[in-house]
Amino acid sequence: MQRPAFARWLAQTNDVTQIFLSAGQRPDLINMAGGLPDPAVWPVAELSAFAASAVSDHPTETLGYGPIEGLPALRDALAARFSTPELTLTRANILITTGGMQALDLIGKVLLEEGSLIAAQTPAYLGALDAWRPHAPRYRTMRLEDPDFAPATAFAGAQFAYTVPNFSNPTGRLVGLDSRRAMVAAAETTGTWLVEDDPYGALYYDGAPLPRMLTLSGVGQTGTYAGPVVYLGTLSKELAPGFRIGWIIAAPEMIAALTAAKQGADMCTSGLCQQIALKAFESGLTDRILPDILSLYRSRRDALGDAMASHLAAHLDWQVPVGGMFFWATAKDPALDTDRLLRQALKHGVCITPSSVFDPHGEDRRSIRINFTLNAPERLAEGIRRLANAIEATLAQTD
Ligand SMILES: Cc1ncc(COP(=O)(O)O)c(C=O)c1O
Repeated sequence: MQRPAFARWLAQTNDVTQIFLSAGQRPDLINMAGGLPDPAVWPVAELSAFAASAVSDHPTETLGYGPIEGLPALRDALAARFSTPELTLTRANILITTGGMQALDLIGKVLLEEGSLIAAQTPAYLGALDAWRPHAPRYRTMRLEDPDFAPATAFAGAQFAYTVPNFSNPTGRLVGLDSRRAMVAAAETTGTWLVEDDPYGALYYDGAPLPRMLTLSGVGQTGTYAGPVVYLGTLSKELAPGFRIGWIIAAPEMIAALTAAKQGADMCTSGLCQQIALKAFESGLTDRILPDILSLYRSRRDALGDAMASHLAAHLDWQVPVGGMFFWATAKDPALDTDRLLRQALKHGVCITPSSVFDPHGEDRRSIRINFTLNAPERLAEGIRRLANAIEATLAQTD
């Protein structure tokens, strides 16, 4: 019998992602693979109270369909929160999305056609690659740390450039001020949309935050922002991912295009979750809980760094991240294939993410991403001991 067919792009998903998802079900496994927050940081009592009053005080907004662009009051609150002396934002610059993931998906819908070119900071966020895969784009990889990196050359001919300047997922790397300025200038001169994906922008453990590219792009402009930066924010890392509240800040013409795409995706983001998000901002909850989140995650970053220094230094190189949720470690020995390491790691009871899934071309098998926010220090240390054994086993197999 002839089988009904699926779209061609489905054949290109990789089996590492499948392994990784099924591993999440094993209770014996130390999961250092995902980018998950510790549930202990969620302010459950306050959020429960916000949820109850949101429904009783705003039944129409929480239980009915809402505007596609999002609740006007939440859009105004975000416009005020992200405006600076150099950057004027209004409601017309803001679209509320169902998590940052939907923002990536909508960008793909309004900008990509089959074969379109994306200039992507590489290694790149797996979720972005997943969101854009159905459009079959081509990628030009950008290594921002490369001293020869020339943004205008990299952006030329691309539909958009994509970067995570604050503590990239997966590398945890911080893009410096000069590179930020250079990318904004290149976006303006080449006429390229510059997607600044910023879920980790609040998670600075050392030093003062660098200016957003969105803010840098506002300098010298008058009136409502109309520049090329498309900024993506989310409540997932600062409050809780279950709300699925994200936002896009961009020129009004871009917001209008994305709104047309959102109409065909989900009509509107949950009104209940938007009301809770609005209350979380207005009451100062997000700002109040941030210092505790930072001190918890800073101490875990340090605990993981110590454990890695004790057990992994013979085999891997890394830099300690100054923010975010991840270490990125690269094998000293090119024979250490990290797709194979993942399989050994699972046998040893620990899960990490191999670099192949973050490479738009799927070829990089030299590095791993290790998360430090989910597990307590003792569990992080045990996970690293298991990983060290898994590395030895992988190398023994190679010989
Ligand atoms: C770089 C990056 N972008 C976007 C997202 C999407 O986050 P969410 O959909 O939870 O807002 C994540 C989540 O881990 C991420 O790391």
